[in-house]
Amino acid sequence: MASSAPKLVAVAESRRFMIDCFKAVKVPQAHAEAQADLLVAADHRGHFSHGMNRLEMYINDLAINSTDGGAEPKVLKETPATAWVDGLNGLGAVVGNYCMDLAIKKAKTVGVGWVCAKGSNHYGMAGWYAIRAMEQGLVGMSMTNTSPLMAPTRAKEAALGTNPLSLGAPATNGDKFLLDMATTAVAVGKIEIQRRKGAALPDGWAQDPNGNITNDAELGFSTGCLMPLGGSELTSGYKGFGLGAMVDILSGVMSGAHYSTQVRKWTHAGADSAADLGQVFIAVDPNCFAPNFEERMTDFNARLRGVEPTDPSKPVLLAGDKESQNMASVDAAGGIQYLENQLKTCASLAEKLNIKPLAFN
Ligand SMILES: NC(=O)c1ccc[n+]([C@@H]2O[C@H](COP(=O)([O-])OP(=O)(O)OC[C@H]3O[C@@H](n4cnc5c(N)ncnc54)[C@H](O)[C@@H]3O)[C@@H](O)[C@H]2O)c1
Repeated sequence: MASSAPKLVAVAESRRFMIDCFKAVKVPQAHAEAQADLLVAADHRGHFSHGMNRLEMYINDLAINSTDGGAEPKVLKETPATAWVDGLNGLGAVVGNYCMDLAIKKAKTVGVGWVCAKGSNHYGMAGWYAIRAMEQGLVGMSMTNTSPLMAPTRAKEAALGTNPLSLGAPATNGDKFLLDMATTAVAVGKIEIQRRKGAALPDGWAQDPNGNITNDAELGFSTGCLMPLGGSELTSGYKGFGLGAMVDILSGVMSGAHYSTQVRKWTHAGADSAADLGQVFIAVDPNCFAPNFEERMTDFNARLRGVEPTDPSKPVLLAGDKESQNMASVDAAGGIQYLENQLKTCASLAEKLNIKPLAFN
């Protein structure tokens, strides 16, 4: 009997598949694991755009050597609280983990660690690095620049990336506040999904080639000009533009990496030049300030979650709550449910790289 049950992929199996793919293009085991841990965490949390969905692009970049899978980051300049790192065109997770671990070490010694990297690649979920600091009882922040996709307010062309930022603040008993967001109104993946569904774009997501708001998903996708968080000037899109620029100043300009329109375009086929992305990793020991930070965070969270909702069936959520709920649903279901076209991409990757295909539960 044909089953209509969804095909689920266990988290460990998804990770195994990704590691095998990376190793097939000569990425060392430890780097393959670091990159797979990051990608599978995004799928587990429900951010499919930054999980398995990105695997093919990384593999293509590695296969044509526009990313160096074996590169180890190097410190160029250091003080007790800061470090300037060259990622030497290594994998984003390898550079990111190295830099955040260095920032954590510094924060534990002198209260704060601020590490800037140049020469990096796409580093996935910005929140991944904030979580790393939170796991050590620290407040963590991370930001990265990306390929240009956002049109500045009043502009016809893209001059900033989707430039995400994250802040993680630990509370007691594993609770937290974890903000992790692009500074465009939506990620480009959401435009792709509307296009696949043949659905219209809401106002404020994307522009047409003349710089006007478009509701046409096909046109929005081909133009490649997302609007900043907030949308048009009238609805305060310039604040999203300002935040995106702030991210690029702290990550790209400060690290000496490429920034703004200097950053290359990135496509599924891979890129023919190094990305040279800039990233920043900040860890702060809250014990340097008022005592009992985590207890006050718990109280803070309770106050916000406790506000009466407009719709009683939809309680107020805090940043990070949706992702925690998603992880719990994946765990309860026993695996991640990928879209059919994602599974097709995985099957063709397995064939191309001659590795064991994804197994289902
Ligand atoms: N490396 C890159 O180049 C790059 C670029 C862009 C985005 N990203 C990543 O993509 C992921 C998705 O980004 P996004 O901007 O689409 O995220 P999103 O819009 O889904 O969520 C943004 C934030 O809002 C919170 N949130 C969601 N619904 C909420 C609600 N109802 N109430 C309160 N808070 C709520 C989420 O917990 C999250 O912290 C992130 O992990 C981001 O870092 C990476």
